[in-house]
Amino acid sequence: MPKLIIDNIPVEVTQGKTVLEAAKSVGITIPHFCWHPALGKAGACRVCAVKMVDGPVKGIQMSCMLEAQDGMVVSTTDAEAMAMRKQVIEWLMINHPHDCPVCDEGGECQLQDYTIAGGHGLRRYTGKKRTHVNQYLGPHIEHEMNRCIQCYRCVRFYQEFAGGTDFGVMGSAGRIYYGRVADGPLESPFAGNLVDICPTGVFTDKTARFRARYWDYDMAPSVCPHCSLGCNTVPAARYRELLKVIARQNDAVNGWFLCDKGRFTNSAVNAPERPRVPLIDGRQVAWEEALAALLLRIREIGTEYGAESLAIVGSSGLSMEAASLLHLLHEKTGAGSLCYFVDAGEAQQSATVTACLNEQASASMADIQAADLIALVECDLLQDGPMMALAVRQAWRRGAKISLVEDAAGTVAQNDNGLNSTDKLPFEVERVASLIDIPFADAAHPVIIFGGGDKMSEVMAEAGKTGAKLACLLGGPNSFGAALLAKEYGAISLAEAVADKKVRAVVSVEADIPPELLPKLVVVATLDWRNTETVKAAHIVLPTTAWVEMDGTYINNEGRAQRFKKVMQPGLPIKGLNPSLHPPREHTPLVPGGQSRPAWEILVDIVHRLGSEEDIQLFAGQWQRLRDLDATGNGLLLTDIERGIK
Ligand code: FES
Repeated sequence: MPKLIIDNIPVEVTQGKTVLEAAKSVGITIPHFCWHPALGKAGACRVCAVKMVDGPVKGIQMSCMLEAQDGMVVSTTDAEAMAMRKQVIEWLMINHPHDCPVCDEGGECQLQDYTIAGGHGLRRYTGKKRTHVNQYLGPHIEHEMNRCIQCYRCVRFYQEFAGGTDFGVMGSAGRIYYGRVADGPLESPFAGNLVDICPTGVFTDKTARFRARYWDYDMAPSVCPHCSLGCNTVPAARYRELLKVIARQNDAVNGWFLCDKGRFTNSAVNAPERPRVPLIDGRQVAWEEALAALLLRIREIGTEYGAESLAIVGSSGLSMEAASLLHLLHEKTGAGSLCYFVDAGEAQQSATVTACLNEQASASMADIQAADLIALVECDLLQDGPMMALAVRQAWRRGAKISLVEDAAGTVAQNDNGLNSTDKLPFEVERVASLIDIPFADAAHPVIIFGGGDKMSEVMAEAGKTGAKLACLLGGPNSFGAALLAKEYGAISLAEAVADKKVRAVVSVEADIPPELLPKLVVVATLDWRNTETVKAAHIVLPTTAWVEMDGTYINNEGRAQRFKKVMQPGLPIKGLNPSLHPPREHTPLVPGGQSRPAWEILVDIVHRLGSEEDIQLFAGQWQRLRDLDATGNGLLLTDIERGIK
């Protein structure tokens, strides 16, 4: 462990760390553009200059390129080093537009920050600026090449880190150009990371362009709800509209990045047709009336068909807070069925995974990146968990062998577009017929990734035999939690309930009831924030808040509980609001369309109205540990006991 001194502060870092990283570890920020924690060094921008005052290396050096060594004495404030950094910034600004006041990156631009911090405020260059023609890169990413400072971060991420092939660097010397050979949408499912990784405004999020400055946003630490991996995010909203989603660093889950599905698939939150007020048979009513009608219809169902004909249905997308209260509604109504899953297959897979994945056997995304042998079984990574494909690529780049177990048809699952997205995986695979063809014994850190299917028992047996860690792709952001609750309360899937019993009425909580079942039900009551087919068919609709409008918890595919925080107030986005509603003609504390409530809060209300006098606390019993969960950090990995493994 080298020991060095930086700005009179003694520093000790692990072997292999650079001087820039050593400085960072004690809170000293050395300006940098091309260096990135996930991409490493490139030595391209020359802005990280420091003065090596004493030790094995002397003089002005690039701190991102220099490995920390014993005895080094470093000054980041030396006049020569500061003059060099200031000079570099001035060079970079020669061709950069001086358009910060009208640039959509302003306020979240690293170049802007370092230009101001470095003291470059006066333009001396009087020549013509170099200009470029921009490209159309698709509906999500805006291209503005004139702002480029040639740090190579974009192409290093796109090609090396993410394996994209349709974007690169062209030209030479002063005419370097980062783009595609021709206009067209970027093909990589990770292209949105260009927005986060570019230190200036070459790539910006088109969906949020010119809608707000960085300091205007409502932001909070959050968790992506679009698959079971639980990638960490920072959603950014303004005036009750979710404008964009930024990746949030979590080295145990998503590292620094996010897939485009998580970043750009959020329009449902702002959808004008979203249920925002309670409805009875399509008629807008007050909460009191809707809740009274719900209780009445539950009673009527009990009288007419018996309480066992009622099913209480949750889903893998439901927060742990609401899911953990579902059983109370089941008990108080005397409903015949409690369901945490609609589909029997999903329920079975999630149950098996939670029962078998103990703390040691469960592979995190960090484990996948560090693996030396990875077997892919019955999974469509780019469809069901794209960030896991990115993790596998990092292992492959380090030399890991990737084996793909083919099914009978010689392929893996087909994706929604009918395409076999395995062909687009950003790494090379060796196709094998069976798990037994894979040399697990030769590997030190093998991992099996399983997507769910018939080979479940074979996969579990092989993992147990070989010591391979296991990563399973589940159906939703809280499948793991829902499966644990299903086990705790003896729940069955809705499919099984319908097959076994005469289900005549359903109270669904953010669950999608199969369309073919809906017409057969006498009563459909739903708590939801999405405009689903279930909501459209429901007799009673109680509007819930989306995940960005409340605090909540999801347990991801490896059993990691993660808290997400409320980002924005629920309510109709001000943009596009009917002018008769805004500005309000008379003072009211009510937000237009702001009647949605968190599902858990509605459940507590209903249970109390059903006669419960107990003080209902979130996360009672074995779940108490989740109460103080911090939204930052790596989350909380459930113990074997919490996973139900004795
Ligand atoms: Fe060191 Fe760019 S950060 S050269």
